[in-house]
Amino acid sequence: MWVVTRYDDVLEVLRDHRTFSSANAVQASVKPPPPEVLAVLREGWPLRPTLTESDEPVHRRLRAPVSRVFTPKRVADLDPRLRAATDELIDSFVADGHADVIERFGWPLPLVAIGDILGVPREDIPMLHRWSYNWLRLSQPTDPVERRVEYARDVVAMQRYFMAALEQRAACPTDDLMSGLLAASGDELTMVEMTRIPMNLIIAGHVTVTRAIGNGLVALLDHPDQLDRVRRDSALADTMVEEILRYENPAQGLFRAVTEETELGGVRLPVGARLMVHFGSANRDAAFEDADAFDVTRDSANRHLAFGKGIHACIGAPLARLELRIALPRLLDRLPNLRLAGPGATERDVIFFARGFRRVEMAWDA
Ligand code: HEM
Repeated sequence: MWVVTRYDDVLEVLRDHRTFSSANAVQASVKPPPPEVLAVLREGWPLRPTLTESDEPVHRRLRAPVSRVFTPKRVADLDPRLRAATDELIDSFVADGHADVIERFGWPLPLVAIGDILGVPREDIPMLHRWSYNWLRLSQPTDPVERRVEYARDVVAMQRYFMAALEQRAACPTDDLMSGLLAASGDELTMVEMTRIPMNLIIAGHVTVTRAIGNGLVALLDHPDQLDRVRRDSALADTMVEEILRYENPAQGLFRAVTEETELGGVRLPVGARLMVHFGSANRDAAFEDADAFDVTRDSANRHLAFGKGIHACIGAPLARLELRIALPRLLDRLPNLRLAGPGATERDVIFFARGFRRVEMAWDA
């Protein structure tokens, strides 16, 4: 596999979706899953193509109804609910003086956001979290087969859940995103294709934001001068979020396959060559001045490639930005003298393309 690391080369790949196919964008160059896992997956419906893992014209067909209903207005309307959810979550642990902020805040907040948009009842959210996280882990080939069989069962359960939810809305429409998607797609998409959309939104829309919350807090605590600046000047919240995404990119990289022989960065790539497009590396390239410095006032931070570019650019970027712009300043505001809870307070997760922490134990003056 070739790993594309320079900013300009990453951009070139992302913009040329004809030469660089996304058909297997989430799959690494690993062996197909073992037969035990495939047998379980066969009990559900085919999982691909999704938005992330499709090329034109399929991709355009899948993305069109999502763009029609996942509008800036729908995201903006979520603002008051997100602020309320942020405060409710902080209320649940603020008096303790310490918490694992990933468990108590980083996971639930983005799930509430995407769950509310989709129209999923809040009581189903923990289950959706487990299912989608296990779907992600299914592509981690280092886990033992028995575990991967369990993950596959969860993926099939998730497919059935969304098929039932969509059928319910087809019979009795509401004003949520799932009903909107059904109306927007008309007869364009089959029900199996439709089930992949909320699944794709849930998985893409929560793990990444969870990672950004943990990565952001740890980066700020590692750089007390920067933390001090954002505490003193709330107008820096937007650039701080962009800098966190640039500096500690939650989606480190995804994959592409070469469809016709080409040259990239002076390297000949044959048909079928597998690439990892390394957004994280591009964001630390010399394209950014003093790229390894964490600077919450950096003007150029929003040129980062954390959300990708081109036809597959992140459709949830406005929602992710809104969540982070609300959540991070509020945590800093409400948890005075925030600090890591001593040595061993953080533990990284091993999913190689979703960079971030499994656990971040923090303490504050309650
Ligand atoms: C900080 C948070 C996030 C990061 C870093 C992130 C990153 C990315 C990146 C890099 C891509 C491009 C993938 C590629 O080129 O193959 C992408 C695509 C996508 N993202 Fe995000 N994302 C975030 C949040 C979200 C949210 C909140 C949602 C939805 C609620 C979402 C939904 C999607 C979807 C559906 C795609 C596929 C778009 C397509 O292929 O047309 N993401 N994201």
